[in-house]
Amino acid sequence: MSEAGCAPEDGARAGAVGVIAIDGPTASGKGTVAERVAAALGWNYLDSGSLYRLAALRTLRSGVDPHDADAVVAVAGSIAPTFSGGRIVLEGEDVSDAIRAEGVGALASQIAVIPALRAALAGLQRAQRRAPGLVADGRDMGTVIFPDADLKVFLTASADSRARRRHKQLIEKGFSATVPDLLRDLRERDARDMRRESAPLRPAEGALVLDSTYLTIDQTVAAVLEAHRRNPGAGARRAGTKPGTTGRA
Ligand code: CDP
Repeated sequence: MSEAGCAPEDGARAGAVGVIAIDGPTASGKGTVAERVAAALGWNYLDSGSLYRLAALRTLRSGVDPHDADAVVAVAGSIAPTFSGGRIVLEGEDVSDAIRAEGVGALASQIAVIPALRAALAGLQRAQRRAPGLVADGRDMGTVIFPDADLKVFLTASADSRARRRHKQLIEKGFSATVPDLLRDLRERDARDMRRESAPLRPAEGALVLDSTYLTIDQTVAAVLEAHRRNPGAGARRAGTKPGTTGRA
């Protein structure tokens, strides 16, 4: 996420700023890839999932029923996080680690089906579109939030490899987890994200579809940068990775 508070701002000025949208299912590596692409280009980075996780944390702590859409929007629709030095502060507390817990991610996916919550968080996301450019990752960056993005990428990987990657990530962060539990959870989350009516997870039209099951992070980052270089500002082209790992939506 770029180093700034999240006050919504006028979208007109931001219109000219380039955007690379990277969407995909849980644990597909899109966060790491998006961050590395942003660093390579010197662009800002938006982890849109962190906003849904912050909303989930707020919901959890407030004790409201997550099935009560109005109550969730009332407590979580007006969050005003601050992003600084890679840390996320909400109401004076550094919650960067707390929002990474699997329970928070699962609740984020549950409340993300609420259209009014999505609408409430849209302004925070669009406000991150600042010069010299933005790399944004999530589920609906290319389809809903930045439909005019210069490059749209749909990053996926097999469920097994995603569960193993998420397991490694959680263990490194000191959380306990097992691969079979994570596999079950991520299948549930994929299904919910893809089936919901509001901004379902799907490749945007014209998106570069990248299957990273057999790609390293470096290869995946290189594929996105190559697509950007080939046609900066005018949409995606096939990236030069192994045959069968890329395609157009
Ligand atoms: O890390 P992981 O990919 O599992 O999740 P995340 O990107 O941190 O997002 C957490 C949850 O928020 C996802 O499971 C989605 O349901 C939701 N989300 C969304 O609906 N739209 C986005 N643009 C980003 C996240």
